Amino acid sequence: MSTSHGTLLSNSNRLHGKVAIITGGATGIGESTARLFVRYGAKVVIADIQDDLGQSVSKDVDPTGQAISYVHCDVTKEADLENLVDSTIEKHGKLDIMYNNAGVVGTFGRSTVDTDFEEFKRVIDVNVLGSFLGAKHAARVMIPAKKGCILFTSSVASVIAGETPHAYTTSKHAIVGLTKNLCVELGQYGIRVNCISPFALATPLLTNAVNMEASTLEAAIYKSAVLKGTFITTEDIAEAAVYLSSDESKYVSGLNLVVDGGYATTNPTFSTSMQASLK
Ligand SMILES: NC(=O)c1ccc[n+]([C@@H]2O[C@H](COP(=O)([O-])OP(=O)(O)OC[C@H]3O[C@@H](n4cnc5c(N)ncnc54)[C@H](O)[C@@H]3O)[C@@H](O)[C@H]2O)c1
Repeated sequence: MSTSHGTLLSNSNRLHGKVAIITGGATGIGESTARLFVRYGAKVVIADIQDDLGQSVSKDVDPTGQAISYVHCDVTKEADLENLVDSTIEKHGKLDIMYNNAGVVGTFGRSTVDTDFEEFKRVIDVNVLGSFLGAKHAARVMIPAKKGCILFTSSVASVIAGETPHAYTTSKHAIVGLTKNLCVELGQYGIRVNCISPFALATPLLTNAVNMEASTLEAAIYKSAVLKGTFITTEDIAEAAVYLSSDESKYVSGLNLVVDGGYATTNPTFSTSMQASLK
């Protein structure tokens, strides 16, 4: 067998034998990650509140329900997360990867004084409390196993500010803090904890929030991107999740992996203003 063929074979097995839960798996990043995890050999349980979509993704990938299945779970309800983890253990006997990805963004363009109490709380409840509760119930079964991988989806809003609603920016900074705190506590049990911070993607979360067609939003994303000649997709985030969930990253913990094509490294406002002034 040639070396390249051998590499291809082992690549397709990057998550072989692993059991993963992905919250927010009915659409967007979660759906792409679920599909890719199965392709790399994992058994996946997707959890969401959009039951019809979640069921149809699961059936589309594997109608038998062996490689992938769907469980209803509102991440703001601890009992739902407890049931999600327990039912996964019942079905697959273990939990290797807990990807806390479910999220909401809130309303763009609201000033501080116009920010609604209930909406701010909802974003924090889903993005921060929901992620923590997912990690808590995963840790409950990973600690006795003395291994595991906990992942979160943060955002480029964890490293730049002013482009997303206050609650969202706050929540995504909080995820980075949570990642680091959990990494320190859970390291003694062999559990790795990391997060991924994607640049903007035209998923339902963003198209609905800014009320734009996906194609119009994608054009704006491409225009503002630092890295040209390519385009960010949900599969790029899924690939980052595969890396952080596989044994290839066995010594990586406490990392905020920013997948933004370098967007957060710069602030073009000054040079743009200079060019505008020269016109
Ligand atoms: N789209 C972007 O531009 C972008 C950029 C950076 C980070 N993110 C983050 O990526 C993650 C996934 O978002 P996406 O872009 O794929 O959006 P999406 O809308 O396609 O997916 C989000 C999923 O989360 C689910 N969800 C929402 N509230 C929930 C709850 N209470 N319990 C369970 N599931 C719930 C939704 O039903 C949906 O299926 C989010 O955490 C989001 O903040 C998105």
